[in-house]
Amino acid sequence: MTITAIYPGTFDPVTNGHIDVARRAAKLFDRVVIAIAHNPDKRPFFPLEEREDLAKQVLADVPNIEVRSFRGLLVNCAREWKAQVIVRGLRAVSDYEYEVQLAGLNRQMEPDVETVFISADREFTFLSSSMVREIARLDGDVSDFVHPIVLEALKQRSP
Ligand code: COA
Repeated sequence: MTITAIYPGTFDPVTNGHIDVARRAAKLFDRVVIAIAHNPDKRPFFPLEEREDLAKQVLADVPNIEVRSFRGLLVNCAREWKAQVIVRGLRAVSDYEYEVQLAGLNRQMEPDVETVFISADREFTFLSSSMVREIARLDGDVSDFVHPIVLEALKQRSP
């Protein structure tokens, strides 16, 4: 039986922390789909198509990872893509409450899909996309936090 995992998020933009979680998930599951959420409530900095394109480029070397975007409920998307697992990265204790709530609600709506947590590498526990965007906007160096392709995209969009 093929196990498909969905790794959802806004990925605005994808960071080295996300890449680390995605690569480790790809070792555990047969197929991993990075699911880029439309998420208009977060008013993303990068348009959906660009977030998807960046994630595709930085993970192109992993054969069992694919990148797709989605709108609406994650559990509907899991059903549609025949995924049995939702992967979420845990960085610090502060992530726990939100993640457990999300996992609980998703399980309530779709009991056949299991949430699996992958702890972020120590190196990335402080990382978030909004911090990366802020440092880049203020002309700081984010080359330790993102792939060179993402670095270039941030430079292109900086005023
Ligand atoms: N490394 C670096 N950063 C990480 C990270 C990691 N391993 N894991 C999380 N983050 C950061 C993200 O960069 C993001 O930073 P930001 O807020 O500064 O932009 C933050 O942690 C949280 O982002 P993310 O993990 O992408 O979650 P999210 O809150 O943006 O997305 C969804 C959550 C999209 C999965 C959730 O809202 C969802 O499923 N939406 C679909 C609608 C739905 O089904 N809703 C009902 C849910 S019960």
